Amino acid sequence: MNFTEKDFIQRNNQIGEAADNFTIEQEAPSNIALVKYWGKHALQLPMNPSVSFTLHESKTITSAQLKRNEKPSEKVKFTFYLEGEHRKDFEPKIANFFNRIIEYAPFIQEYEWIFNSKNTFPHSSGIASSASGFAALAKIVIKLEQQLFPDVDTNYLQAKASFLARLGSGSAARSLAHPAMIWGKHPKIKGSSDLYAIQPDFDLHPIFHNFQDSIILVEKGQKKISSSVGHDLMNTHPYKNIRKIQAFDNSLQMLNILQNGNLKDFIKLVEEEALGLHALMMTSQPNYLLMQAETLKIIHAIRAYRKTNKANICFTLDAGANVHVLYPENEAESTLAFLHKTTNCDIIHDHI
Ligand code: PMV
Repeated sequence: MNFTEKDFIQRNNQIGEAADNFTIEQEAPSNIALVKYWGKHALQLPMNPSVSFTLHESKTITSAQLKRNEKPSEKVKFTFYLEGEHRKDFEPKIANFFNRIIEYAPFIQEYEWIFNSKNTFPHSSGIASSASGFAALAKIVIKLEQQLFPDVDTNYLQAKASFLARLGSGSAARSLAHPAMIWGKHPKIKGSSDLYAIQPDFDLHPIFHNFQDSIILVEKGQKKISSSVGHDLMNTHPYKNIRKIQAFDNSLQMLNILQNGNLKDFIKLVEEEALGLHALMMTSQPNYLLMQAETLKIIHAIRAYRKTNKANICFTLDAGANVHVLYPENEAESTLAFLHKTTNCDIIHDHI
């Protein structure tokens, strides 16, 4: 079933109850795009469909202490702690998120919120926490909605969690369900939507079960150039139209591969998308470059290792210098030995 934006506006009567003081805790996983979302319009609507793997170990866990306001408040009052530290620098983004979702979840105004959030991946490791972070916040809001409106359908709530997460950060729309998600309307993908992500309507081929993702931390800390700047540059990008056609096509191809388990095709497509994303950055106006010398060294080493050992490993990149190395579970031992020999950078091991 396809939901429209209007469907997400709360219209039922409240029949559930919530206490004056209570806590909701939710966690959400990180995700890595295989087909990249790059470019957006209106309020976080993607320029093209994207397909991602959902990670298992890298996640954000957030608890919200809610206290009912004595007087109605126009603005949502909240405080945000990350790993025990009050992080005022995170609050403007969260305030913006609340402003965007208030239309769809007006009940959030009735409470004052204290968030305590932590990531399972190391602090400032360079792994994007905004996707899992906003997905966890969206799940908290949905949990409250479920409590206040217990008659609401769970399929609807699942789609709405993704819809709300999207309003925090685009790729957060895909940080909800395992093992893969699709976000963005595609005429040939049933149920797909720009408003929220969906799961594939088939089981992934067994070769992808427990598929490994070793994240090589080439560059730790804050991103030099935010994804929002990169998304905006796509509006006037000379390759905009051709990229759209490519991404629509690649999304369909990727879903076929996830079903038929052809690893050769998988490797080709994943790397084409990773380098394609960075090629778009390098040819935008102004252009920029996020890969570092170590990124390239690792990419070359992966390609050489794959050729010599007939290994099924490949790399992908998000909007930074870190390298995600993807490979099947049965090649884990040899791949790990290779990776540790290749780089001195810290590596986070995860899987889907
Ligand atoms: O969700 P954002 O605005 O941080 O954009 C994420 C963009 C990429 O990570 C580069 C690609 C993707 O699809 O996740």
